[in-house]
Amino acid sequence: MRSLAGDVIRQAFFSCSEGKLHKRLYLAICDAILSGNLTPSSRMPPTRDLADELALSRNTVLRVYEQLQAEGYISSRTGSGTFVTHSVLDNLECRPAIRDHKAVAEDHSSLSARGLQLLEHASASPRQWGAFLPGVPDVANFPHRVLKKFTDRQARQRSPELLTYDTTGGSEMLKAALTDYLRTARGVQCTPDQILITEGIHQALDLVTRSLCNPGDKAWTEEPGYWGIKNILRMNGVEIVTMPVDEQGLVPDGEHSDPPRLIFVTPSHQYPLGSVMSLSRRQLLLAQARKTASWIVEDDYDSEFRFAGQPIPALQGLETDSPVIYVGTFSKTLYPALRLGYMVLPAQLKTALKRIHSELYRGGHQLTQAALADFIKEGYYAAHIRKMRQLYSRRRQILVNLINEELGSSFLGQYNSNAGLHLIMQLPPGVDDVSLAQRANSQGILVRALSSYYASNTRLSGLLLGFASMEESEIKTSFHRLVALINEAI
Ligand SMILES: Cc1ncc(COP(=O)(O)O)c(C=O)c1O
Repeated sequence: MRSLAGDVIRQAFFSCSEGKLHKRLYLAICDAILSGNLTPSSRMPPTRDLADELALSRNTVLRVYEQLQAEGYISSRTGSGTFVTHSVLDNLECRPAIRDHKAVAEDHSSLSARGLQLLEHASASPRQWGAFLPGVPDVANFPHRVLKKFTDRQARQRSPELLTYDTTGGSEMLKAALTDYLRTARGVQCTPDQILITEGIHQALDLVTRSLCNPGDKAWTEEPGYWGIKNILRMNGVEIVTMPVDEQGLVPDGEHSDPPRLIFVTPSHQYPLGSVMSLSRRQLLLAQARKTASWIVEDDYDSEFRFAGQPIPALQGLETDSPVIYVGTFSKTLYPALRLGYMVLPAQLKTALKRIHSELYRGGHQLTQAALADFIKEGYYAAHIRKMRQLYSRRRQILVNLINEELGSSFLGQYNSNAGLHLIMQLPPGVDDVSLAQRANSQGILVRALSSYYASNTRLSGLLLGFASMEESEIKTSFHRLVALINEAI
């Protein structure tokens, strides 16, 4: 039977054609181990299989294995096979011979201009779990066992469709479940065939940009706004036009001479400031989009977590056949690594965008999608959101109280609404939030600087503080450490 280790040995064996067969095989295996191609604990191929593959006698292979075993390269475990030993590298003092990947210097000269530009603006936090990291839900509370039960149940159906490529925009079951959920929970107007399942909002933003914009087109983004959108626009050669945000959300500019192809907004909970787009602003924006034949992209990333008052319905549902592409995600309600999100496509774009999605990304995760559909239909999704909403509301209140008590209410961002997974702690004008955030990060307090969300030079200074994933005691201790740093900075 062919194996990976067998392939590695075969390649090394045939690349050296001199010497006796026994010696050649011995050197080939040593070389594979010392060069790191066969790593410690790799299983060696059975002697009979290797002999067949290399057209050698089994005795030759047995002799080589015995020699390698005597020298400590490999060891056999009764009943389980022969393995490369862990101690081989230490014992043989052979480290210099091993390819040292770290020694190869980074060289970016072969990157494209777009790749270099993306690197220059890369903003994702290298750490994705820790005190005050914004936008992260409490993944520790996720009911894995329930989802596993549904996944196992779906797997038992042995439906080939669940294990092949998807070209139809996602699992029909999930699209149906989401249609009901989005109608009742978010006021979205759609039928299941308008839904496209994505690998999260990022992919949805990439899809709309690539499908609807030509290089040189303009797109409006919020100022301050989400860096993820801007990176995608830059990568696609789309000109970013930043529009100011006030307490009612994005301020559209009806007089703008060059209309945008796309308008990106977060109306339910402006990212990052936290304001809710007012009804009159929504109507203005819809009228503006209709006038200039632009598409509004509504990023509804964390709207499930509103802790007071009524939920804010989606902009998409405000008018029938609105010029809105709605994008949502399970990253905040369940967990980010699930990499599942959804789009609600306008009727005139639904077939084209599903087709382009399939050509670009090849749909998958069908089994997980089917399990998720059961999870939603049987009420577990709504129950999990309810539970998390209560938990996050308590944690947010603890943080708000701490800010009020220890720093004063002027430190609470002016647009914060009682919602979401983070809040804005505003800093006095002139405080360098970027260096403050860097200092905090170096001590494991993963705040982000508000000013880094702006493109223009008119910036508020502040910190984004995520609270959803932190236990009460951790919020308190980390907050006190942060206050000490703030006091040093002001
Ligand atoms: C405003 C906003 N939109 C979209 C996303 C990304 O969502 P996804 O994980 O579905 O790609 C984030 C992630 O933090 C976000 O903050």
